[in-house]
Amino acid sequence: MSAKIIDGKAISEQVLAETQTGVAEFRKTHGTTPGLAFVRVGEDPASVVYVGAKARMCERLGIQSQTFILPETSSESQVLELVQTLNKQATVHGILVQAPLPGGLSQDRVFETIDPRKDVDGFHPLNVGKLAVGDRTGFVACTPAGIHQLLIRSGIEIAGRHVVVLGRSRIVGKPMCLILMEKGKLADATVTVCHSRSLNLVAMTHQADIVIAAMGVNNFVKANMVRDGAVVVDVGITRVPDPSAKNGYRLQGDVDYAEVSKKAAWITPVPGGVGPMTIAMLMANTLKAAQLQAASAASGH
Ligand code: GUN
Repeated sequence: MSAKIIDGKAISEQVLAETQTGVAEFRKTHGTTPGLAFVRVGEDPASVVYVGAKARMCERLGIQSQTFILPETSSESQVLELVQTLNKQATVHGILVQAPLPGGLSQDRVFETIDPRKDVDGFHPLNVGKLAVGDRTGFVACTPAGIHQLLIRSGIEIAGRHVVVLGRSRIVGKPMCLILMEKGKLADATVTVCHSRSLNLVAMTHQADIVIAAMGVNNFVKANMVRDGAVVVDVGITRVPDPSAKNGYRLQGDVDYAEVSKKAAWITPVPGGVGPMTIAMLMANTLKAAQLQAASAASGH
């Protein structure tokens, strides 16, 4: 059997088209444009690429974006000061501080300083808490929200299924579990979380109807770890040196695609699977932030 491909590029285009329509409606209704501020500290090459791609997507959708680049040597208080300034600007509806931050800066303190209403990454404890209690007025982290959309829009049944999430990160693993265990017909999964200290990993993944690989170890998930007919979502993106590639590297996932795609029913490719969805959900979250802020300004709160 050869797996069907979950086409993240095509599904992200659906989400982007819906968001673009919403942005145009927002502009017509409010006479302003949703605005997103990016903060990049230092020159981490992957962060340069990601922030650039996100900013270009804003431009395509009609979202106003600004990118603030601080030097690698910035102090934490300089970063926090910029975030606090952006918190106060009415034209900035969303703030994204690209991770990882240079050593010595507390990612937690930076994320917690972002106004939760502008936290389009969904990393602020208030938004994580809202997700945990099923309050949909908060922001959900873009990568797990994007994976949820990939499953729903591919017509993959989630309710009652056993999902094994590999990885417990703040950005993917933990919010992924919360989304999938939520009550409701678009979730209702049985969720198991495995991580670097889990014993009998293969026994766990073998029980999975859906495996979500998000531990950041390239080529980790092999064919002997998944059941025939499983759904396999690959969140990994490791840069592997490749002299024949245009940039001198290629991207490799956490799943051994060549092997696992022969056994799975559905699989996401890398690139072109989860990655495009992360950007699409960021755009959707920015529109949501602008809509919520406009509504609360109109009601005087
Ligand atoms: N670094 C890797 N992924 C992300 C993300 O989704 N948001 C931010 N802010 N940084 C990241």
